[in-house]
Amino acid sequence: MKKKVLLMGASGSGKTSMRSIILWVYSNNPASLTSRLGATIDVEQNHVRFLGDLILNLWDCGGQDAFMDSYLTAQRATIFQHVGVLIYVFDVESREMAKDLEYYRDCLEGLRQFSPEAAVFLLVHKMDLVRQSRQETFNAKKEELQDVSGDLKLSVFGTSIYDESLYKAWSNIVHTLIPNANILSKHLATFAQACSATEVILFERTTFLVIATSTSTSQPALSSDSDSLETENPASGSLDPTRYERTSELIKAFKHSCSRVRGEFHSLEMELWDFTAVLDEMTRNTYVLIVVHDPTIETAALKLNIRMARRKFE
Ligand code: GTP
Repeated sequence: MKKKVLLMGASGSGKTSMRSIILWVYSNNPASLTSRLGATIDVEQNHVRFLGDLILNLWDCGGQDAFMDSYLTAQRATIFQHVGVLIYVFDVESREMAKDLEYYRDCLEGLRQFSPEAAVFLLVHKMDLVRQSRQETFNAKKEELQDVSGDLKLSVFGTSIYDESLYKAWSNIVHTLIPNANILSKHLATFAQACSATEVILFERTTFLVIATSTSTSQPALSSDSDSLETENPASGSLDPTRYERTSELIKAFKHSCSRVRGEFHSLEMELWDFTAVLDEMTRNTYVLIVVHDPTIETAALKLNIRMARRKFE
């Protein structure tokens, strides 16, 4: 199954840097490498395989005015047809916001004409450059973007290539492209209950992006701004809001260390004084992490539960 993902926004807003981070999401390339990238000429395409048979076809559309004008006229149908997701990137420090918004509105029009079902994600990017209150700046931008988008249902994220925010936004974007993502979350909630777990998280195998969590009940939980993953479960009230991204980073680093000593990573068990965690393969394309705070629950029992649940998740 192929899904077209359009990456658009003004020249210099950070699309190509973002794309490289996304493509390198499971190698450990530092963000600083992206400063060497030049402007994108017209459209650059990449394919990313995800969850075995889901192929994301990423179109990085160069943002210089001449290219934008051409997308909106001569190339209009080619660009805007069969789009699964439009990701529009705004530089939070842009000095040409009025022009950026005008192009954005024109692109929405193209999308409405050729792919009215497409999901729209807006990234207020380079948040690391904001000196004043980030939350306030983000809220103001979000409001401005909602104003020009009419009644379109938007998902807006504040992002930067220098922290986990981009990972979080991308996880949410990918979530909308996964068929039956809601059913997955429901299964996961049942599974978490069966394990008496505080939380269960499903990761994609190669990228370790979060696909579903037992605390996200339905779509809206995953489609809003920065704090969206936390709101559904009262038990998760005191948990760190960046825990998914941080866990993913840690596991990737650990996997990387294993490969450096030619070891292979299969599973992980941790028993600490106040919690137990088990990470294991769930299906051919996913890993599951179970976190339990009940000291009477043995890791062997959790692993048995994983084995028994596998068929349900294939
Ligand atoms: P075009 O290809 O012309 O459309 O531009 P683009 O949107 O692809 O921009 P690009 O990715 O080339 O980034 C432009 C500059 O912004 C580069 O110097 C990046 O290093 C920088 N940049 C990208 N993301 C961030 C970020 O999150 N924070 C900061 N501070 N700089 C960033």
